[in-house]
Amino acid sequence: MWGMIATWRMAVEGITKGSELLKEGGDAGDAIETAIREVEDFPYYKSVGYGGLPNEEMEVELDAAYMDGNTLDIGAVAAIKDFANPVSIARSLSHEKVNCMLVAEGAEKFAHKQGFERKNMLTDRAKAHYRKRVKEIKQQELKPYSGHDTVGMACLDVSGKMTAATSTSGLFMKKKGRVGDSPITGSGFYADSKRGAASATGLGEDLMKGCISYEIVRLMGEGMHPQEACETAVNRLDAELRERRGEAGDLSLIAMNTKGEWGVATNIDGFSIAVVTETLEPTVYLVNREADGRCTYEKASDEWMENYMKTRMAPIEE
Ligand code: GLY
Repeated sequence: MWGMIATWRMAVEGITKGSELLKEGGDAGDAIETAIREVEDFPYYKSVGYGGLPNEEMEVELDAAYMDGNTLDIGAVAAIKDFANPVSIARSLSHEKVNCMLVAEGAEKFAHKQGFERKNMLTDRAKAHYRKRVKEIKQQELKPYSGHDTVGMACLDVSGKMTAATSTSGLFMKKKGRVGDSPITGSGFYADSKRGAASATGLGEDLMKGCISYEIVRLMGEGMHPQEACETAVNRLDAELRERRGEAGDLSLIAMNTKGEWGVATNIDGFSIAVVTETLEPTVYLVNREADGRCTYEKASDEWMENYMKTRMAPIEE
């Protein structure tokens, strides 16, 4: 069996490309890197890679991570600027015994020495979003933070190897140097070929409070189906946060186990996922939260898919 599951509709083209490798017996590391690069390269996704929205100083600072579930190797970069594919830099770092997580200038120096492609990641469209948001904050006293649609993936190849990876520009208008859950092992991602892999999207500050990707992998290791593991972990963390702090940020998770079974859970409306397995063509599902805390999903309609792209590519009215 092989398969990939990813957060958000934006990942479907990526997992389609990744699945081409997996169906030929390709490696889960190559497939997940290929898939995430596809999302990083697409200029109309506002929260990952090229076209990602900037911090409050109008700089695009990117976070990414990669984990190999066979060796438990981890590589991560945080607050890196001006490189095209942070996930590839993270994967390259995963081969290092030490210094495998680098931030800001240190990450950029490593990427430069390794010959990774440099790119100005701040697009004109992202600048327009920034100007619009600055105006809105002044006029309507809106909170600057919003938008945290990290791409996170879990992957299984025919050899049984599992991987997890993430890539994000983090919160729009974040403070310079702010890092969320995405490059943090156990919070934004975790992979263990003996138990399964999981990844998160949502408010990093709250996802990190539950080390939630690790928690889901742990629950799968105890025998839970990925669906039950995702629901259990998300509902528990959501309840704990509400009890102790009066509110919970957005928490959305995906997972796959060693058999290619998968699961999803969220505490928000409007979450979508992209899935492909040996027996399922690349498919986008819209996730519904039921009153009892369970999550169900339905295939996105053609109309929804069309509308999604139109909205992403619509002109920005400043
Ligand atoms: N989940 C992405 C972030 O908070 O940066």
